[in-house]
Amino acid sequence: MNEQDAVGQQDSENLVNSLRVKVYAPASISNLGSGFDVIGVAIDRPGDFVVVERQKEPGFRFSVHADGVEVPSSPQENVAAHVASLMINEFKPPFGLKMVLHKKMPVGSGLGSSGASSVAAVLGVNSLLPKPLRKIDLLRFAVEGERKASGSPHADNVAPSLLGGAVLIRSYEPLDVISIPMKNSIVWVVVHPHVIVRTEEARNILPKAITLKTAIRQWGNISGLTIGLASGDAALVGKCVEDEVAEPVRSRLIPGYDDVKRAALAAGAYGCSISGSGPSVFAVASSGSSAKRIGDAMKRAFVRAAGIKSDLYISRANMEGARIVSKSHKSTS
Ligand code: HSE
Repeated sequence: MNEQDAVGQQDSENLVNSLRVKVYAPASISNLGSGFDVIGVAIDRPGDFVVVERQKEPGFRFSVHADGVEVPSSPQENVAAHVASLMINEFKPPFGLKMVLHKKMPVGSGLGSSGASSVAAVLGVNSLLPKPLRKIDLLRFAVEGERKASGSPHADNVAPSLLGGAVLIRSYEPLDVISIPMKNSIVWVVVHPHVIVRTEEARNILPKAITLKTAIRQWGNISGLTIGLASGDAALVGKCVEDEVAEPVRSRLIPGYDDVKRAALAAGAYGCSISGSGPSVFAVASSGSSAKRIGDAMKRAFVRAAGIKSDLYISRANMEGARIVSKSHKSTS
């Protein structure tokens, strides 16, 4: 058992009698350019919260507090309710559950919004089960949220959001997820322009096949990316985020993308690419001050090139992943 599992288990044991938990699951930058569907890193902000409570009455009740974010509120359509129901159907807890999703993250943002909701939901439900599972065993439920949201059960957002740090999805069949032992020195700059890109649409336009020449360049970059993350080498990571598969087609869905990338590099970024399926764009920096300079330049470029406002997030990797913010032994029912 590794250290993370041991901590997870201890936490789980403390929770056996909890009646109510509040959970936070962070955003993530998936793909990191070249690592389409196989690499992602968790960042501190933004993220989603879920509150789950045991109830005497059997059944599952679900509602959403959305703070202006447009997200389905029916339990049939919402990914958080979907993954919670899958767990409840499988483990059949001897009590009811009430869940409130506090949706803070914009949808269709490329920040792993559906992934964060799913992860918060599975960790919340798990925390109240009589025999909670280890975090890693929750992944198979969280990917079902991604399948519901986009038609594809990719794990490169849910795995880092759940486990923290940078994660490699070595295989999908069977699912084999490896936490990259990383030196957390890289500063991630993420700019979210106020446009929506639907992941399903951004996947549909991808090439169905690539040439061997492209594949060779891509797997060279992915390998370099893994080494750069492990050693905390921002220059190597920046060089290796170059993506020859998704970026050429997906960048067309992001107004002003080429100008924003040019602005990031001119301001000193080691590299720049699309976060997840976009429209967010991330850049690689090695200090907080250069990250701020780069982020501001990217924001200005979005306005100049496309007249679009954006939000800026700067953080190192979130190494903890989804966490229990509070727990109580009191129920409101
Ligand atoms: N790897 C996925 C994609 C992430 O790029 O489609 C979606 O957020």
